[in-house]
Amino acid sequence: EKGGYDHFMLKEIYEQPDAITDTYRGRMLVDEGIIRMAGVDDNIERIANAKRIIIVACGTSWHAGLVSEYIFEDLARIPVEVEYASEFRYRNPVIYENDVVIAISQSGETADTMAAIKLAKEKGAFVFGVCNVVGSSISRETNAGAYTHAGPEIGVASTKAFTTQITVLTLIALKLAKYRGTISDSDFRYHLQELDRIPAKISKVLEENEHVKIIAEKYKDAPNCLYLGRGYNFPVALEGALKLKEISYIHAEGYPAAEMKHGPIALIDEQMPVVVIATRKGHYEKVVSNVQEIKSRKGKIIGIVTEGDEAVRELADYVIEVPETMESLTPLLTTIPLQLLSYHIAVMLGKNVDQPRNLAKSVTVE
Ligand code: F6R
Repeated sequence: EKGGYDHFMLKEIYEQPDAITDTYRGRMLVDEGIIRMAGVDDNIERIANAKRIIIVACGTSWHAGLVSEYIFEDLARIPVEVEYASEFRYRNPVIYENDVVIAISQSGETADTMAAIKLAKEKGAFVFGVCNVVGSSISRETNAGAYTHAGPEIGVASTKAFTTQITVLTLIALKLAKYRGTISDSDFRYHLQELDRIPAKISKVLEENEHVKIIAEKYKDAPNCLYLGRGYNFPVALEGALKLKEISYIHAEGYPAAEMKHGPIALIDEQMPVVVIATRKGHYEKVVSNVQEIKSRKGKIIGIVTEGDEAVRELADYVIEVPETMESLTPLLTTIPLQLLSYHIAVMLGKNVDQPRNLAKSVTVE
């Protein structure tokens, strides 16, 4: 049932080109320049006229929410708040009737996310669900929704659910942007074309697997690891750190690259691997200077860079290349090597990759 792979996690990492294609198939008509999503189309006025979008989720789904905050604000110009469902539900939050709440959940069963939805509905907000499991509790409780169509995710560490959540949220943001007139027709079409090229580009990143294995071998015994990114790739840094923690039990932290100088830089010495996402379009010059700061403190640098990169390659101990794409779509590519890195490290350390200790696939208790 693992289709020739040693673990479900690896199988699911490799399924991402197809899973993303399945997510946008039938919804995104590239040649016509149309995105069709019944859950959004049927409620377009309510959603597009929201004064604010509040995203509630937990764990990796919360990271997908953070990525989409950048996309919604950038493209559709709607203010977005991203909340941990567990904090939101208990803090007497301000919720207006013209707010739209988007709940993101792979399993559709997460107790805290469910409670946040019920609270938002009580206050009169419109609740939209992004779930993977069809017919799940959350998908039934929400006013409308869109499934990710990633197929079953068995590995406890979420991989294809994350990238398909980002895909669905990107489609929604593009639809809202078009309806609100905050994106030009040509930009809209360009986004669709570029999204359509993502699955093939992910396949290309997956060809780096052997190279990532070499890097994993080198750093598998590190007790700590830092992940840095800016803009769209800051949430990817958080997600990379979570993946490493949960399956290899190595302590890892994700930070916005510029926050390093406000504390975490004190951790850097010649033992500390620092994974830096430094793609060409995302504040590249700024990230390069962050990489220089790490280098001068003798940190070990693993750069996730755009093909053909020179500046980071010169400073880094290792680089992993990803193909060029538009900035808003880079998380779909930069996430992949981080998934592979944590996978290989966990396997090399003999950990139970698909069922890490203390974790459950669906968290139905608060
Ligand atoms: C991490 C992971 C968890 C889940 C979280 C939310 O790899 O899988 O952090 O993302 O428990 O689960 P869902 O998305 O099912 O609500």
